[in-house]
Amino acid sequence: NNAIAVLCSGGDGPGMNSAIRSVVRTGISEGYDVYGVYKGFAGLLTDDFEKMDLSSVGNIIQRGGTVLYTSRCAEFHDPEARKVAAENLKKRGIGSLIVIGGNGSFQGANCLFKEHDIKIICIPGTIDNDISGTEYTIGFDTALHTAVEAIDKIRDTATSHDRTFLVEVMGRSSGMIAITVAISTGAECVIFPEQVESLDDVAANIKRGIERGKKSSIIIVAEGDHEGLGYSYQKDLKSKYGLATKLCILGHIQRGGNPSPRDRFSAARMGYMAVESIKRGDSGKVTVVRDGKFCLAPLEECLEKKNDFDPELLEILRTLAL
Ligand code: F6P
Repeated sequence: NNAIAVLCSGGDGPGMNSAIRSVVRTGISEGYDVYGVYKGFAGLLTDDFEKMDLSSVGNIIQRGGTVLYTSRCAEFHDPEARKVAAENLKKRGIGSLIVIGGNGSFQGANCLFKEHDIKIICIPGTIDNDISGTEYTIGFDTALHTAVEAIDKIRDTATSHDRTFLVEVMGRSSGMIAITVAISTGAECVIFPEQVESLDDVAANIKRGIERGKKSSIIIVAEGDHEGLGYSYQKDLKSKYGLATKLCILGHIQRGGNPSPRDRFSAARMGYMAVESIKRGDSGKVTVVRDGKFCLAPLEECLEKKNDFDPELLEILRTLAL
């Protein structure tokens, strides 16, 4: 049971390829057989493995997406399915699995670890930066770059036309993208899951800005957990407050594109650390960033969504958007 497998699970994020490359090359250099599993946990069930060599991961560090593909695999909630997954790993002599993904994927991996004695090391990979126990997740920085670049362009046309825009960014249960992008683009307001600002306040803010001569206003909305949030705010702002807005939904463009240096670098470091940690005999660990430093944390500390939103960020936004 001396081989290692690596997979990506959940939503993809720029930088995942750098993590895969790092795992494969570090693993091989440490003398392990390394297998890539296609389509996340689904590939564990359908036995979709490929033995990797050094050139399997050549020329991918700069590419978005994941060469191993990914999926959200509901079937993996079933213990019987996890049994099949463990068998498919063990029959190849794979004793350790590296999972690149979000906290939902970590929960699946944790079950495999507890039930079948497969050694698990996780690497946080999601554009949302919403995993407890780590200050950073791979993909966040690139997603911010993509969103900020788009919103700067929206600002140009908004100003030319004296318009207010609603811009919907990603973040199912986290406003980390929304608040960071809002501060970075000089947005006037932000609406996201952790925040309880009423639409009354949003409308009043925008109107105050217009009265003092602002030529454009931008409201950032985190998409939240149901589709069409941007549309419903647009409708309410018009019908309840007489405020006309244009809506732009950035959507999945935030998940693609060439990874930023920060994402490539973080992923390379985490991939290396993951293999080195397997070599030391570790299991049930996550490569994380804490106090700005790369280190390993217990998996149990990284299974939930982060809930350490700093309210000062909202104060900063409000103060600067006066
Ligand atoms: O978890 C990352 C993420 O991009 C969220 O921001 C978003 O809500 C979700 O994935 C979208 O998932 P899907 O691509 O499966 O629709």
